Amino acid sequence: MSRKSPIGIFDSGYGGLTILKEIRAVLPQYDYIYLGDNARTPYGTRSFDVVYEYTLEAVKKLFDLGCELVILACNTASAKALRSIQQKDLPLIDSNKRVLGVIRPSVEDVFQITKNNHVGILGTNGTVSSNSYVIELEKLSKGNLHVVQEACPMWVPIVENNEIGSDGANYFVKKNLNNLLLKDPAIDTIVLGCTHYPLLSSSIRKYLPEGIQLVEQGSIVALKLKDYLERHTEIEKCCSTGSKVVFYTTELAENFNEKASAFMDREVIAKTINI
Ligand code: DGL
Repeated sequence: MSRKSPIGIFDSGYGGLTILKEIRAVLPQYDYIYLGDNARTPYGTRSFDVVYEYTLEAVKKLFDLGCELVILACNTASAKALRSIQQKDLPLIDSNKRVLGVIRPSVEDVFQITKNNHVGILGTNGTVSSNSYVIELEKLSKGNLHVVQEACPMWVPIVENNEIGSDGANYFVKKNLNNLLLKDPAIDTIVLGCTHYPLLSSSIRKYLPEGIQLVEQGSIVALKLKDYLERHTEIEKCCSTGSKVVFYTTELAENFNEKASAFMDREVIAKTINI
């Protein structure tokens, strides 16, 4: 990294705002660029190749906008594109640039939360079928780990279409939670493995049996990023510090502004961008 630049935050749509909000709470001094690919959301139902292609395009766009460090604030993109981008593309684009994901940091904290090692993962079809959470949890497990997963393909469209809190949203939240708990009634920890899902947390908590811990990624990712920047001072000193956030969406800016302002509890004025 050579020059001062904003940190890029990417998601397929609105979900990454749950990560941006927590990152800004922990690291308010930096500048950020948020990019939501709302025109092509959801990613969770798309093939490996398509998610990789879309994510790489978004990362390159954030690099073009001046970012040197990009966070994939999207589990589906982290599951399906992060490794290829880190290993194959970054060395060709610029080996000083960095792209980080949200799965590994989230998994690291699960073992501090579960008491019985029975863990449930809720995610998109793409994240669940990639098995990324299971693989990463197994890498860190000292044995005796029980992981079950449930794909919730309706949850992202519910958020993207502003149906949060509706009867339809409650129906699907209850149904998927029940399915997960039927797979393993001993679960004591559930990971919301999609950055859109915290936006449904009031419905989720309504149907969550007592005694089960819900892992939301925002604050975990924020604290892990803080730690990363403390350990990588060569990267930290290249992050610009003006506390500014610029928002881009691939869809109509007016639609994005209305929803993003509600999620962020502040006025958001985004620009439309093609990627
Ligand atoms: N927010 C993305 C994730 O964390 C989601 C989804 C999508 O576009 O399906 O997986």
